Amino acid sequence: MTSESERELHLQRAHYNTFLLESRHVIIDLLTDSGTSAMSSDQWSVMMKGDESYAGARSWQNMEKAVHDLTGYPYIIPTHQGRAAESILYSLLGGKDKVFISNTHFDTTRANIEYSGARAIDCLIPEGKDPSRIYPFKGNLDVDQLERLIREHGAGNIGAVILTVTNNSGGGQPVSMANARSIREICRQNKVMFLLDCCRIAENSYFIATREEGYDKKSFREIAQEMFSLADGAIMSAKKDGLVNMGGFIATKDKRIAEACTNLLIIREGFTTYGGLSGRDMEAIAQGLTEVFDKDYLHYRIRSTTYLGEKLTAMGVPIVKPVGGHAVYIDAKSFYRHIPVEQYPGQALVCDLYLAGGIRSVEIGSVMFGKYDLEGKLIPAEMELVRLAIPRRVYTQSHIDYVIETFGFIKEMKAGSRGLKIVYEPPFLRHFTAHFERI
Ligand code: F0G
Repeated sequence: MTSESERELHLQRAHYNTFLLESRHVIIDLLTDSGTSAMSSDQWSVMMKGDESYAGARSWQNMEKAVHDLTGYPYIIPTHQGRAAESILYSLLGGKDKVFISNTHFDTTRANIEYSGARAIDCLIPEGKDPSRIYPFKGNLDVDQLERLIREHGAGNIGAVILTVTNNSGGGQPVSMANARSIREICRQNKVMFLLDCCRIAENSYFIATREEGYDKKSFREIAQEMFSLADGAIMSAKKDGLVNMGGFIATKDKRIAEACTNLLIIREGFTTYGGLSGRDMEAIAQGLTEVFDKDYLHYRIRSTTYLGEKLTAMGVPIVKPVGGHAVYIDAKSFYRHIPVEQYPGQALVCDLYLAGGIRSVEIGSVMFGKYDLEGKLIPAEMELVRLAIPRRVYTQSHIDYVIETFGFIKEMKAGSRGLKIVYEPPFLRHFTAHFERI
């Protein structure tokens, strides 16, 4: 526990950037759902059987089988986390003149693509850009725009189409099977590679089962398997729906790509049968990928996220609706109307949540995705969101009720809240290390 005056000091020392806080100074940590899950007793017990052999470990065979059984893809490449998989795959598929198209590129995805010299274009349906609009699959990719973009840039220049399920940067919103099927067709006709960024595919499957016609009788796992069957490959950060603290993989149907990735893997991550992972990590992933499709687990998970969203809505806090899978996203642009986007209303709310309740959250708006024009003026992001990401199997309803109470204080004091300016930023992924000052 910390007092408000202590938190003021901690926040100043962290340059008003919650990534720079020490975790012991945080009461409720909603910074991310990534790597923050509590592992089950079954996961801990299989870890005891971790085979730490350098090559051909049994633990690798267990992980490979689990990923293969889920995805149906023949080539599986282990990595230590999602961005390591991205760095390997997109440095091969990317390069100058290449264009990648996604519903919304996650920040590390965009950074890895741009670092290769390629362009990353977001192509979300208009419904997905309006936080208050109720629509069942706000994570869908705009297929008309996709066809236009392929024509405009030439199919040969498209590095890949990446469907992010659920759409993290767009509010954790799900993607429908119908949308994945249309993308499959367009990619097939144009001979363009279709990839899934599948780190929250179990949660996405829950939404398909409950919202899309024809899927209510299928298991969550079968739904995920159907989606995998439509794509050519996938990248996964297992730190989300793998229910582990560390891990990831590339999975593909394409032998040539798999061979090229393997060469880079050995240079950057490790040998083909462990990537950047310990044997015990691979055991935990194999078990986690099974547990995550449990119907009671997924129901409880999605219902508890929705609970927070419903309570905030009842209090008049504007959120992205309907509530997504892993997080509640506050629409800071409309909640903090008195702060212009150039002064980062999302970051102001992030700081206020920490000050008022010791709650750590993250801005997903112009701090994360803003760019500058030639005159150095901010080109803002589409939305100014603040994400309250819920770690899996960690917090109880009373913790979440505390978060809701804190919003009561925020509502009372928000008129006095001031915006921020950036006083230091690195060239890539600036939100992680930027320094701010209050205006
Ligand atoms: N893709 C998506 C959709 C993600 O949400 C993340 C990570 C990654 C790729 C990269 O995976 O962290 O294992 O390297 N998202 C975390 C988050 C960091 O907080 O949303 P990673």
